[in-house]
Amino acid sequence: MAETVSLRRIDEADWPVVHTWGRLLEFCRFQPWGPDTPEDSRAFAAAAAAAWSQQPQTRYAYLACLDGRPIGSGELRLRDIRHRQGEIAYGLHPDEWGRGYGTAIGDELLRIGFEQMGLHRIYGTCDPRNLGSAAVLKKLGMTYEGRQRHTMLIRDGWRDSECFSILEHEWRARAE
Ligand SMILES: CC(C)(COP(=O)(O)OP(=O)(O)OC[C@H]1O[C@@H](n2cnc3c(N)ncnc32)[C@H](O)[C@@H]1OP(=O)(O)O)[C@@H](O)C(=O)NCCC(=O)NCCS
Repeated sequence: MAETVSLRRIDEADWPVVHTWGRLLEFCRFQPWGPDTPEDSRAFAAAAAAAWSQQPQTRYAYLACLDGRPIGSGELRLRDIRHRQGEIAYGLHPDEWGRGYGTAIGDELLRIGFEQMGLHRIYGTCDPRNLGSAAVLKKLGMTYEGRQRHTMLIRDGWRDSECFSILEHEWRARAE
């Protein structure tokens, strides 16, 4: 069940499991990177792990585990320290899609962002064709803000980004 998804810091040694999904086109279809080679996955895990010791820290990368078994990843990025703005991102191995785990990762990232980091606004974006991700952002209680045009050049051309956000008081009202 989704309730058993937990997040832990990503480690450099996690690259082989990260590679099991990073190498798949269906996983990175709407992203400007990938499918990843083993070297790409190694570099991703190394950079994500190293970010935990950077000062000031702006990147918080986690491995998502189901009863201890890695199934995906989630990230919180501090986009503006002064104005307490953060961004979330998440992804799962396709074998695990459609069971509420993406939303469970997002829920935990919001909790960390608002409760532990004291953020005021957290947003997430997705390709307009990424209906699963848009559904996750809505299920997290986020409000649709609009579509930013041509934010990334990906393998099939320029893509737009749908933007959703939630504010601290909205999250607290939902969490009560
Ligand atoms: C996006 C992603 C994380 C969703 O994870 P997930 O565990 O399947 O998400 P959830 O099960 O919590 O919720 C998905 C919702 O989207 C819906 N959905 C999925 N695909 C859909 C589609 N093609 N059309 C409409 N709805 C869709 C599901 O029915 C579900 O809604 P429901 O709970 O009301 O039934 C997963 O597909 C993934 O890892 N994709 C690759 C990486 C990625 O795109 N990450 C997001 C970057 S912005």
